[in-house]
Amino acid sequence: PKDVGILALEVYFPSQYVEQVELEKYDGVEAGKYTLGLGQKQMGFCSAHEDINSLCLTVVQRLVERSRLSWDSIGRLEVGTETIIDKSKAVKTVLMQLFQDSGNTDVEGIDTTNACYGGTASLFNSVDWVESSSWDGRYAMVVCGDIAVYATGNARPTGGAGAVAMLVGPEAPLVLERGVRGTHMEHVYDFYKPDLASEYPMVDGKLSIQCYLRALDQCYSVYRKKIQSQWQKVGVDKPFTLEDFQFMIFHTPFCKLVQKSVGRMMLNDFLAAPNPDTQSGLYKGLQAFRGVKLEDTYSDKDVEKAFQKASLEMFSQKTKPSLLLSSRNGNMYSPSMYGCLASLLAQYSAQQLAGSRIGAFSYGSGLAASLFSMRVSQDAAPGSPLDKLVSSLSDLQTRLDARKCVPPEEFAEIMKQREKSHHLVNHTPQGSKDDLFPGTWYLERVDDKHRRQYARR
Ligand code: ACO
Repeated sequence: PKDVGILALEVYFPSQYVEQVELEKYDGVEAGKYTLGLGQKQMGFCSAHEDINSLCLTVVQRLVERSRLSWDSIGRLEVGTETIIDKSKAVKTVLMQLFQDSGNTDVEGIDTTNACYGGTASLFNSVDWVESSSWDGRYAMVVCGDIAVYATGNARPTGGAGAVAMLVGPEAPLVLERGVRGTHMEHVYDFYKPDLASEYPMVDGKLSIQCYLRALDQCYSVYRKKIQSQWQKVGVDKPFTLEDFQFMIFHTPFCKLVQKSVGRMMLNDFLAAPNPDTQSGLYKGLQAFRGVKLEDTYSDKDVEKAFQKASLEMFSQKTKPSLLLSSRNGNMYSPSMYGCLASLLAQYSAQQLAGSRIGAFSYGSGLAASLFSMRVSQDAAPGSPLDKLVSSLSDLQTRLDARKCVPPEEFAEIMKQREKSHHLVNHTPQGSKDDLFPGTWYLERVDDKHRRQYARR
């Protein structure tokens, strides 16, 4: 099959959020810390009657309904999540109840877990399945979802929640480029969830940021090597740089880190360039950094500031539009980068996107990371697959605006409720269903044997 990639994409986020400005006051931190320092505007969160299964049920059903798909046409479905409510039973198996009436049980794929990376692993698996001898001609569906919540303290404002579902198949408007993925995997304890009774992770914030940037360096280096060697085979002999990505999206724990990451990629380009011009153009005035080593600069503020400044225009053009959902809903964990993709597609026309290359950096603590790229199809005509994909996301901003703003006191109270009700049996979750968006699945009841029952609003 030709041009395997993403055909359709659906996003779900909670119907309520807290303002970061309000959270700064409530937490008693300096004004500007969350908004300017981390680059966050708002944070979405789930009430007690939403869990990972309900989030994924909602997003899958929405994708199937809005794309007018039949449940029979899906031959693979896999889920990337780190929100574990059962050590054995996969979220995928819960989603199979949506297929029940169709009689389609021949659906490969299961859950993948490693921090925020599960969705990317699932996407790679699904694309590979369509390209393989195991493919049966049907679509694959990739679902990523998480409820990202932290204990009270400095990590709490970097939470979020949501789910993304993607339809994968041939002749896609977003094609995953073959043979160029750059991956970096390593053993570190930067963020992990050893306490199975709690929704909260253990996190070493500073270490996790270092690991993220180190993984970015490594993945970008491998990606560049692979694509340059492809280019050489067709007679193109030039270094690959950020300029070759028309757009660049990132896993987004908070928006400021992404802005720094664009600077980081520029630093990589600068150090790899045989003879960079520091008198004019992009690298003007950066001569002093010519001798630095990547591995010595993870906490070097001078390097960070210089390259953040030099890459400001690139950030505005290539990345900033992709941060709409992240800045207003927070870190969704595994769907985070795919939410950035949705934001990008929501804010450009099919014509503006046609023919471009989108770079994508996915990071999951622990750690697993990949940098890959997608080619947007040339055909942007009305009714084309690209046009359909782009128009299906045009309501993103309106949907964000339609959410309910909740004061920090109430947010903190709901977090406490979630802590108390996590893993309760014989339990009916509290909270008003009326606040959920129409069509949202929610947890109705947990019986005495921990079996969960869902209903749809
Ligand atoms: N006005 C403007 N900026 C301010 C202000 C203010 N009043 N106060 C602080 N800042 C800036 C700081 O200078 C800093 O920016 P800088 O790093 O560019 O210098 C920024 O705000 C954050 O302040 P810190 O003191 O560094 O914040 P703190 O250490 O308390 O927490 C952290 C930040 C570590 C990100 C924390 O929220 C956390 O642990 N989050 C979860 C982990 C995470 O998201 N890791 C990322 C990768 S892994 C993953 O995706 C889960």
